[in-house]
Amino acid sequence: MAPDATEALKVIASERVDLVLCDIQMPGINGLELVRQIHELEPDLPCIVMTGYNTPEKSLEALKAGAFWYLEKPFEQERLDVVRQLVEKAVEHGRLKSENRHLQHQLRSRHKFDSFIGKSSSLGRTLALVEKIADTESTVLITGESGTGKELVARALHYNSRRAERPLVTVNCGAIPETLLESELFGHVKGAFTSAVSHREGRFALAHGGTIFLDEIGDMSPNLQVKLLRVLQERTFEQVGSSKTQKVDVRVIAATHQNLHKLIEGGRFREDLFYRLNVLPVEVPPLRERIEDLPLLVHHFLDYARQERGARVQGVTDEAMQRLMDYHWPGNVRELENLTERLTILVGEGDIELEDLPAQILAEPITQAWAPRVPSTGLDFNAVVGRFESELIEQALAHTHWNKNRAAGLLGLNRTTLIEKIKKRGVTPPEDDT
Ligand SMILES: Nc1ncnc2c1ncn2[C@@H]1O[C@H](COP(=O)(O)OP(=O)(O)O)[C@@H](O)[C@H]1O
Ligand SMILES: [Mg+2]
Repeated sequence: MAPDATEALKVIASERVDLVLCDIQMPGINGLELVRQIHELEPDLPCIVMTGYNTPEKSLEALKAGAFWYLEKPFEQERLDVVRQLVEKAVEHGRLKSENRHLQHQLRSRHKFDSFIGKSSSLGRTLALVEKIADTESTVLITGESGTGKELVARALHYNSRRAERPLVTVNCGAIPETLLESELFGHVKGAFTSAVSHREGRFALAHGGTIFLDEIGDMSPNLQVKLLRVLQERTFEQVGSSKTQKVDVRVIAATHQNLHKLIEGGRFREDLFYRLNVLPVEVPPLRERIEDLPLLVHHFLDYARQERGARVQGVTDEAMQRLMDYHWPGNVRELENLTERLTILVGEGDIELEDLPAQILAEPITQAWAPRVPSTGLDFNAVVGRFESELIEQALAHTHWNKNRAAGLLGLNRTTLIEKIKKRGVTPPEDDT
């Protein structure tokens, strides 16, 4: 019970309230204004407005103000049942609304950072950056090999920004034929081209107020790159076949697995567009550079298969896990996810064993042990190659307990070459092995 609107707002701010019944005519703030203010505090709280004498205009006004319904006073005995039912319905409605909001929130938080599996420092650095820049309006360029989680990053950026309740619209620029991409992005008017039988909104318009994610931006044609540059600079565009300029409020996130610097050198990507996109660069590291995350990912995908598909696979033997960690994963997390899914079906029950792994993974360590990378700061070629050689030789000798014949076999070298290299690199047996 509250004598006026001001008191009512105090109660609502401090207690849990399921429903508000209020008069329209009250001292101070009137009932309709009260409903508006209540919804700023508690958007899901249902309000029923009571009127002295009901007119269609009044009831419409009440609904417009956000009331759940309106009731005419006084409540005579024979109408009490109607009032009761209305109250029950309103409370139920409020409960569903807040439950829905809660579920929506949960759904969104699935795109928060716990959807990223991994505890490597390189993934950690990427996620810390993503968290820092999520709630800004700046354009983000996500780079990384395919399957590393670029789309996951884009989602995390959107769902952790103030635009989270507005749409996230994804366009895969590589998957849509060039001729269609322009109308896909900007829309078209009826008759703009032969197949344009009706007017169509583009993805930029659909993303208004939210975020547009332009995936595989490196595949965009030079012609469209010019148009995109203009949207980034002026936030305006025209539909295909129209000369009317539209304004749009979107945040742009772009991603590519390609090396844009190379594309720029080759004249296939505009340098000015690159700088417009690359305001906040995020690099997602390849799986082979955070291989310590692999066991966690495997278990995550196995758990998922058990929960969602009733798979009965138990785990992975140490030997098989080690081999998975030796592989170089050109398709990154996606390749691992697909492989795990296939294995859960093929293996059926028990553990995934070494023999269950596909041939390319079993063959891997022979040809591709390690893919070196040249950091942008440069490196000392001879020193790196020397260290690499020493490392391989030491490992082969450790495997064979310093049997040089067998070590040479493991490395595919002949014995004399190995002995020369042992001397040249100064490789010596570990103390306790001699
Ligand atoms: N760190 C991660 N933890 C869990 N799943 C991941 C992770 N990174 C990627 N994935 C999964 O791998 C698949 C490929 O990721 P995606 O974002 O589509 O990669 P990209 O866009 O870089 O090609 C998706 O199913 C994604 O959910
Ligand atoms: Mg992708």
